[in-house]
Formats: sequence, C-alpha cells, structure tokens
Amino acid sequence: MHTRNKSRISKVADGIAPSMIRKLFNMAKSIDDVVDFTLGDPDVQPHENIKKAACDAIMSGKTRYSQNAGLLELRETISRRVKEKDSLYYSPLTEIAVTVGAMEGLYLTLLSLIDDGDEVIIPAPYYVNYKQMVEMCGGIPIIVNPSDKETLLVNGEDISRAITERTKAILLNSPANPSGRILTDETINTIAKLAIEHDLTVISDEVYRKLIYDSKPYLSIASLLGMKDYVVVINSLSKEFCMTGYRLGYILGPEDIVAAVVKLQENVAACAPLPSQYAAIEALGSRIDYSEQMIDTFTKRRDVLFDELKQAEGIRMIKPEATFYAMIDISGMGYDSSVSFAYDLLEKARVAVVPGISYGDICKDFIRIAFTLEESKIIEGARRIAMFTKTAK
Ligand SMILES: Cc1ncc(COP(=O)(O)O)c(C=O)c1O
Repeated sequence: MHTRNKSRISKVADGIAPSMIRKLFNMAKSIDDVVDFTLGDPDVQPHENIKKAACDAIMSGKTRYSQNAGLLELRETISRRVKEKDSLYYSPLTEIAVTVGAMEGLYLTLLSLIDDGDEVIIPAPYYVNYKQMVEMCGGIPIIVNPSDKETLLVNGEDISRAITERTKAILLNSPANPSGRILTDETINTIAKLAIEHDLTVISDEVYRKLIYDSKPYLSIASLLGMKDYVVVINSLSKEFCMTGYRLGYILGPEDIVAAVVKLQENVAACAPLPSQYAAIEALGSRIDYSEQMIDTFTKRRDVLFDELKQAEGIRMIKPEATFYAMIDISGMGYDSSVSFAYDLLEKARVAVVPGISYGDICKDFIRIAFTLEESKIIEGARRIAMFTKTAK
C-alpha cells in the first residue's frame, strides 16, 4: 500500500488551534449534572411568530437558493430598520449583504480586504475566532492590550501605537465578548480619526448592541460624520433574537466591499438559508419589538449571578455593561493559570467555564461565565463555584 510521507493538511488549517471554549464545552458534555457556562448560546427561544415564519417558508416550498446577497425583501427590511433605529441609510441594492451568521459576515469581509501579510488590529480581550479568521485569510493579527489592565478596555492611544505601514483594518467589538464592556465615545472618535488619517477600514462587530444594560447609550463608529465609507458593520440575529442556529447575519458597508463580499459568497455558501431569511424578515420587520424582553431577562440573570458570587471567597466578578458574559477575576485563588482553575472547577464542582487565557494574555487571571442559562441553574452554578473557592483556596 502507498504511504504518504507528508501531511496533506494545509498550513492554514494546521495552524489553527482548536478553541478552548469548544474543548471545555465538549468535556462538560461528557460529565453528568454539569452547570455549563461555556457557550454564548442563550436558552431563550425566539418568539413564536419568528419560528412560524421559518416553518411557513419550509411548508410553502420557499427552500431554494436566494440571490447571493440575500432576498431583496430582507435587505429592504434591514435598510428600513437601520434607518428607523439608528438614523443611518444603507441601500438595499448595494450596501447590504445577508450572511450565514455574523461569523460568515466577518470572514467574507476579512477575505475581501486582506492580502498576504496585511495587519489587522484586534483589541484584547478578543472574540477567539477573530484571530483565527485573520490568519485563515493570510493576514497578521495584531493583538492590542489595553494600557489600563483593570478596565479590560483599549483606548485610542493603544490603537494608535499599533498602526504600521502594513495595517489594513481595525476589528472592533463593542459591546465586547468576553469583557462585556463598551468602548467610550472618546475612543470611538479617536479611532475614527485614525482610520481616516491612515486610510484603514474599521470592521465593527455590533452583534451585542441590543444587549446593553441600565439604558447606557451606544455610539456606533459608522454613525460618525464621514465614517460610513470606512466602516463595515457586522450584525446578526443570533444574540438579539436568540436565533443562533438559524445562522442569519448581515453586513452594512461601502459598495465596493459589499460587492466583494457578495462575489465571495457565491463561492462559499451561495446564500444564507432561505427559511432563516424569512424568519429574519419577521424578526426585523415586525411592529412588535421581539428583542425588548431579552434585556429584562438578562439583567435579572446578571444581577442574580453577581449577588451569588459576592459570597465566593478569592474571586471577583466584574459586572458587565452589556452582553451575557461575565469576567471573573481569579487572581486571588493562587492558581498558576486560568486553564488549571477551569479544569479543577469542572472536575471538582461540575461547573464548566472558559479560561480567560483564550481571549488573550491580558485575561490569564480570569474565567468567563456565559449566563445563558435559566436563573435556577445560574444560582446552582454560582453556589457550586462558591463552595469550590472555599475549599480550593
Ligand atoms: C463578538 C461575536 N461576534 C460574532 C459572533 C458569531 O455570531 P453568529 O452566531 O451570528 O455567527 C459571536 C458569537 O458568540 C460573538 O461573540
């Protein structure tokens, strides 16, 4: 038999490290009675009308391909909603593309922009897939740590220092996974100026912008004067409407980038799933605000988690301003890494969390909890953590 003498796996695929989130999630699945805080996949169901729209589409045979950019009716719905809610106009014909979740929107945008060796600035802590996606496109991720470590939030100066001749884009995520923080208006304004000065594209991942607590205001970089041509907004129905498995996202951006994304879409997924596109028309186009109750649900969960974890010795939860993630500072626990803490916690207390190191060195003394479970499970998980910290310290 012929034997191969070298790996057939490409350098790109070989270079991608499996994410720690999935690793912990898979380990948690193999243990009975685990409280699983790993995935940002809410247990809340989308509204009945949204589900019905998807089912109706299937039953009436609307299950074929759509245009690569997505159904025009959906793009028109997105355009109307963005105008109504954010006072920004994007043409449904040339400035909007529907994607397979925000993830495909991000990937195709990066693929449209990056040539080999181009640098993409990614503020830390960062959504794990950003780094890998930039690498998949042949780019170089430049991870920027906040100078003020306490806040887990970069400022304009931090970004400015990272810009080089090779910088092509800045990838922003505000509100951010995993920190739950929102970039300040001052930082947003400075980044906008830097983008214009250095001719950089800002990719603004705004999937958590409807999940902001305590009515805090939100400034999208796309809304600043003169910025529309420099910004690609990435959005999705996954978090806002709890539609993760529908795999429905969209991008808003300048014509040339959207055209490139649509061209690439033809060769990657052809289009987003059609029943999900009909569900999205219902979710985004209805007079009913389907995402309104979400913030109440998650505010309660955040507060319950915070109150419960106050009882735990040696750890400190940073109350998130947005998202359904909480970062917990474990530096007082005396562990050499967040990975060993997470393994120990899973083994001894049957609670699965993500080690902070997955989001960059800056989070090496943190773990991330996704409070995407019902309240009783959050309380149970928090109590197990408190018990664990008492004995492990
Ligand atoms: C910051 C961020 N962007 C994008 C995504 C992916 O969203 P989607 O399900 O729409 O692909 C996630 C999912 O956790 C996320 O946290």
